[in-house]
Amino acid sequence: MSKRILVTGGTGFIGSHTTVELQNAGYEVVIVDNLSNSEAKVADAIQQITGKKTAFEHVDCTDFSAMDHVFKKHDPIDAIIHFAASKAVGESVQKPLLYYRNNLVSLMNLLELMKKYTCQNIVFSSSCTVYGQPDTLPVTEQAPTKKAESPYGNTKQICEEILQDTCNAESWLQVVALRYFNPIGAHPTTLIGELPNGVPANLIPFITQTAIGIREQLSIFGNDYNTPDGSCIRDYINVVDLAKAHVVALNRMFENKKKSNYEFFNIGTGRGLSVLEIVDIFEKVSGVKPNYKIVSRRAGDIEKVWADTTLANNELGWKAEETVEDTLLSAWKWELKLQKEREKKQ
Ligand code: UD1
Repeated sequence: MSKRILVTGGTGFIGSHTTVELQNAGYEVVIVDNLSNSEAKVADAIQQITGKKTAFEHVDCTDFSAMDHVFKKHDPIDAIIHFAASKAVGESVQKPLLYYRNNLVSLMNLLELMKKYTCQNIVFSSSCTVYGQPDTLPVTEQAPTKKAESPYGNTKQICEEILQDTCNAESWLQVVALRYFNPIGAHPTTLIGELPNGVPANLIPFITQTAIGIREQLSIFGNDYNTPDGSCIRDYINVVDLAKAHVVALNRMFENKKKSNYEFFNIGTGRGLSVLEIVDIFEKVSGVKPNYKIVSRRAGDIEKVWADTTLANNELGWKAEETVEDTLLSAWKWELKLQKEREKKQ
């Protein structure tokens, strides 16, 4: 019988792509999502891609009794992949309690319910934000975590600590935390992709929306950083590659290959690209030059960060495969498809 995976935040950007990869790998998926930043029709799109049925529960992970009901209804759950979280850095500064409640209570509820229903495996969505500005690059998992720049970043650090402490206390618990770098792109079918709520805070959706004409101008936040062209450097990882990392993490758990009950891995490409380089590559692959201007730095931005992926390569046997060109093209095709839908609605 196939293993059943509970995917919280499964209709979101990374959750939806991961659900597709899980189903393609033969796992059964139950999605839990409160739809605060996604749409129920994403579950249908997933089904369209994989041809497999996806159970969908419209539930908020902070609601303990509703989550208890989900665990009871879908018992046994063999593993959880926990994506459900608030993720806008700027908003987290304005509404810290919302972020602490959503991100911390959800995880604590899951851990309690895992014990109650004897589910021992969880993959947690962490972030390279835990490193702050690393002293050496590429950054390895051994690098110290630094004081978070935002309540959002702090929730990722605290969640990792909650998981570590619980692993120390509960030897049955198996955790893999994946520290994502910057996930971008969309599914090659253009049936799922990123659906930013309102004005995008992240670079790629802002670029594609500017190129299509929804936004007048992209603001590039600073060209006076200590980098070759002065703009910030990030490690942009294709969302399908990232999704596949979750499948290999789960396989590792089910095959009892873990070396300790709490493991964490960098999930990036190992290559740093500047904001200006990204804009340039986008123009090459799409044929559209997004209108942009250089503005002052954005508060809380890290100057440069990219991953050392040796541990994920060696231990998980996982490696990013897609080129940044193909990935940016997939993001552009997704925006073109969304534009068609917008035009139909008018
Ligand atoms: C941030 C978080 C990261 C989180 C991610 C998801 C931090 C330090 N980073 O990543 O943990 O997982 O959001 O939401 O908390 N840029 C522009 N113009 C724009 C938008 C962005 O120039 O309109 C630049 C930024 O200055 C940055 C790069 O593009 O250099 C990427 O920005 P963004 O996509 O927002 O991601 P991060 O801030 O790296």
